[in-house]
Amino acid sequence: MISQNTIQEILSRIDIIDVIGEFVKLKKRGANYLGNCPFHNEKTPSFTVSPSKEIYKCFGCGKSGNTISFVMEHEKYNYVEALKWLANKYGVEVEETFVSQEQKEQFQTADSLFIINSFAEKFFIDQLFHTDEGRDIGLSYFKERGFREGIIEKFRLGYAPEGRTVFTDEALTRQYNKELLLKTGLIAERGGQLQDNYRGRVIFPIHNNSGKVIGFGARILKTNEKAPKYINTPENELYVKSKILYGSYFARTAIDKADECLLVEGYTDVVSLHQAGIENVVASGGTSLTVDQLRLVKKYTNNLTIIYDGDSAGVKAAVRGLDLALEEGLNVKLVLIPDGEDPDSYVNKVGASAFTSFVQTNKKDFILFQLELSLKDIGADPVKKSELVNKIAESISRVNKVEDFTKQQDYIKQSSHLLGIDEAGLNALVNKYIRDRLTVQERKLSAATPDKETAAKGEAGNFDDTTFDMLFKDQLQERELARILLEYGHRSWEGQTLIADYIFNEIDELDIEDKEVSVLVHAVKELLKSRPELFNDKYFIYHEDKALSTFVISLLNHPYEESKKWVDKAGQNMGYQTSLFQQGYDAFVRTVADGNEEELNQYKLISEDKTKDIIISAIRYLKLKKIKRMLLQNQQDMELDKKFEKFAELHFIHRSLKDMEREIAEQLGTVILK
Ligand code: GTP
Ligand code: MN
Repeated sequence: MISQNTIQEILSRIDIIDVIGEFVKLKKRGANYLGNCPFHNEKTPSFTVSPSKEIYKCFGCGKSGNTISFVMEHEKYNYVEALKWLANKYGVEVEETFVSQEQKEQFQTADSLFIINSFAEKFFIDQLFHTDEGRDIGLSYFKERGFREGIIEKFRLGYAPEGRTVFTDEALTRQYNKELLLKTGLIAERGGQLQDNYRGRVIFPIHNNSGKVIGFGARILKTNEKAPKYINTPENELYVKSKILYGSYFARTAIDKADECLLVEGYTDVVSLHQAGIENVVASGGTSLTVDQLRLVKKYTNNLTIIYDGDSAGVKAAVRGLDLALEEGLNVKLVLIPDGEDPDSYVNKVGASAFTSFVQTNKKDFILFQLELSLKDIGADPVKKSELVNKIAESISRVNKVEDFTKQQDYIKQSSHLLGIDEAGLNALVNKYIRDRLTVQERKLSAATPDKETAAKGEAGNFDDTTFDMLFKDQLQERELARILLEYGHRSWEGQTLIADYIFNEIDELDIEDKEVSVLVHAVKELLKSRPELFNDKYFIYHEDKALSTFVISLLNHPYEESKKWVDKAGQNMGYQTSLFQQGYDAFVRTVADGNEEELNQYKLISEDKTKDIIISAIRYLKLKKIKRMLLQNQQDMELDKKFEKFAELHFIHRSLKDMEREIAEQLGTVILK
């Protein structure tokens, strides 16, 4: 346990903005600070920190707490670990009353690994500069590559000598623990003998964001050997490959300043670019990017520019993970360095300013880049092409950073051109992917729908009760769907899927607002699970739950007899219809009245599979209604929120919803004005 004195001391020194600012890029907004929530994926900041109250709250995911709970949550620390982290940050000496054995060991391991790594770093530096072998082989190698002493010192590069046990001997003399030494990967056990793991290699220490050594990359010098080019630290308490970007410690301030992070493959690329004065650069180590690495970038900037050599296998590896980047809201650009060069050799060849201008003029949006790359691969294979079309549509649908609506449209235009497909078709496909994701968001939104009182009071808008009901309730559409569920649910499509299952697939139970409909849907689902053979159009009329059976009866007792009359007059045996189909019917009736035979015949054809039409239309009408409601809610938000950023986002949502509305309306054959 940490003593009360220590805790008080820590509490008196912590600054919530300073602490959270280490992990989240915060911007001042009035009295508060705003940033992207580190606890959930979001594109627009809803994570608020109040320095006066010393609390944070995310309006997106609801997480809230104080400085200590933030450190606990973010770093996955327990209370004591979080306090220790803060104590370390603010230079408070920790007075401990009791520490559990397990904690002690954990800390000790990590601490010891740091100590050993730091010792090793110094050892390798010493070897590089102060031994003949180091100078003759290591240092001359670096010099040959154009690394000057300043940069070698800055990156704390070193040299591991050829001898079998030079480092091992030194480490053991200093009584470092054998198990821990093995854990660091600095030494290895071969045939019962301890020996150096890196021999005759130059050393690139890898630092965490506070500059402590978490591992090493050791590069071979002889080119003709079969040994791997690099040997890296094995995963341990400190070295977690998926969370490391080489150079981030040296690049962080430059990235922040440039508001752009350059990503290269290799250690040497980072070092050379730094030497040339391009400091906003980190390396991934040639594997595909992980979410953790992307989040690391996102702490500093939203703009990621990937610079790889053109013939590198790494390009494909890197590109693989990049949909994640789009989702994280990063703007991803790619540049390929030409003619067998890599960033390291290229910057040495052309110099910093030519390098920078090459990058700035040649960087290409990730999606188009990916498309061109894939097009080369698939050739004329139609199956692969359709896969690619879907893949690209998915990627484009993820470009939902607000201000990027035009960019998204651009992508659609350019991609459809490159793919040789219809632009409208691709647009629809992109919308489908957006819609699939919006279903989830809509759920959140319906939970946030203002209640009658607030709406009536005019706080959330200026609606009276009737308008409110019309605008915010999907009751009519939901009840119509419930009726269809009761009437057709037990049948199946062409002897295949149960219609009830089809409906459940299309409409989520959680989206249903009407309590009674929701109870019914739930009851049908339960029945299908337990006694599916009992399900028919009468079952619920006799349900033991009186309220449910009453509701069911009222549903089936639909009030729209008039429509039926019209249908009968037209000689169609369509059964009855409800108000949902009124518009379509009106059109139909007009056709009949006009006596347009051709159109009438057309209508007959369509209506042959009427059950299917009725069901699909009902689902579409419900979706349409929900979209309309979201549009309204959104419009309301737009009126309330005049801040540009927010407005742009809302406007983007508006456009997407409008597109969806148009799409569904087209499917329904209804004309939507405005
Ligand atoms: P130079 O060839 O000296 O310019 O080194 P480089 O760092 O540019 O290496 P390269 O372009 O061949 O590879 C890019 C990155 O991939 C390296 O920096 C390493 O992180 C990683 N890498 C390359 N080869 C190996 C290997 O054999 N083992 C491991 N673990 N990583 C490697
Ligand atoms: Mn290289």
